[in-house]
Amino acid sequence: MTIPETLAQHYVVPTDAPSWVRDVDNPYLRGIHAPVAEETEAVELEVVAGEVPADLFGAYVRNGPNSVFRPNNLYHWFDGDGMVHGFYFRDGRAVYRSRLVRTPYLADERARGAAIWPGIMGPFDFDKPRHYLKDTANTDVVFHDGAILALWYLCGEPYRLDPLTLDTVGIEDFGGARTTSISAHPKVDPRTGELVYFTLADDAPFMRYGVVSADGRLSCEMPIDLPGPRSTHDITITERYSIVHDFPFFHDAELLRTHGYRVARFHPDVPSRFGILPRRGGDVRWFEFEPGYVLHMVNAWEEGDWIVMDGCFQPNPTIRRNKAEGELASMLGYLRVRAHLRRWRMNLATGEAVEEQLDDQNVEFCLPDTERYGEKTRFSYHQRIPVDNYTVEFHSLVKYDHADGSSVCHDYGDGITGSESPFAPRRGATAEDDGYVVTVVTDSDSLRSQCWVYHAQQIEKGPIAKLSIPTRVPSGFHAKWIPGQRLWR
Ligand SMILES: [Fe+2]
Repeated sequence: MTIPETLAQHYVVPTDAPSWVRDVDNPYLRGIHAPVAEETEAVELEVVAGEVPADLFGAYVRNGPNSVFRPNNLYHWFDGDGMVHGFYFRDGRAVYRSRLVRTPYLADERARGAAIWPGIMGPFDFDKPRHYLKDTANTDVVFHDGAILALWYLCGEPYRLDPLTLDTVGIEDFGGARTTSISAHPKVDPRTGELVYFTLADDAPFMRYGVVSADGRLSCEMPIDLPGPRSTHDITITERYSIVHDFPFFHDAELLRTHGYRVARFHPDVPSRFGILPRRGGDVRWFEFEPGYVLHMVNAWEEGDWIVMDGCFQPNPTIRRNKAEGELASMLGYLRVRAHLRRWRMNLATGEAVEEQLDDQNVEFCLPDTERYGEKTRFSYHQRIPVDNYTVEFHSLVKYDHADGSSVCHDYGDGITGSESPFAPRRGATAEDDGYVVTVVTDSDSLRSQCWVYHAQQIEKGPIAKLSIPTRVPSGFHAKWIPGQRLWR
């Protein structure tokens, strides 16, 4: 048994999980992490506490892993088939639905009735070029050109979903011009509607960069020369520039080719670097900083000659393996993230590079008001993660004031885990934090999920509305708020 006996109560097999789950000894397939066997058709949610504000207008959409078939080897939390959960708020009411992303890989597995591809822990079949892993599209969601794009962190196809039904419409090819995969975390500029993306490869130039117009045409595509293969996870934008990331935390491409070994290693003697380039392409100017790693940035903006960027910095991304945890030690160690809020400043006139830690709480899954991506933001919303928990859990919602690094917080409560929590501007809002924050929580005892709404200016007072969800929502990855004005045009 892998799961420690003392934690067995926390990692039970939920009754709504696929039946094969009971045969797999993996904490990321149990308890709050377990997949659900069924998608959920549109259902109006019952408000069980408080009141849903009438001016909460739009959709909370969250992606995450939801394995359909029993894994054919070791399972990693990042492996499950993408399932997108949507909560649609309008006139004080909310409707929920969930849909698996219909990838061709999932279609093949459904035709066979069993898993075909291994997860990221292998073993890999390199006779299937590019297809030695399953592109699950399980990581991120962005709203662009009238659709939701479901995206994968190891760079995959952008799957286009109907934003209201969440049905997979097809694979987005940017008017036939797309020639590469794209990574999770492209940024949509709320002013221009442009999508700014990057993609990684194990061969030179190792990164490519692109911009897609608001109506879906590829307007820029260029190489970004890196020293080797990287595990870059995010990209940032300002009004005029894009910032690409190069961290000394990467895997060895040769080892991957020969042994299928994709585990990244920290190289503490190599600096972190950020490359600033004009939005629609041009020379990249690099700035060096303290070695480390960042999964997710909050935002970036311009202040005169300065580019300012805030994010969740990991000063020591070394994987903390506990050998006693056996064959899952690498995954469990990798997922024990230690990150805190940091600010980087880069001067385009003088070349100065300045960095400062803003706080020391262990926080990740950070979002500003995404309707203000690329412009100066003062507030962001994070998940506080207990250090060294057996599996990843989000125990508190933290709102930062970046003016002084101060924060307010709401603990979800004993045994309750939240989800990434985007800011939802109040209909007609003017101030940056004039609106709400929405999250999805699951109680590890009852294994029941609820959708919670907070007033963004009173996070510490707890949710102003709790809505009961008739099905469990498994733990997951990234969420976005889609304003109603964009969704229901
Ligand atoms: Fe991510």
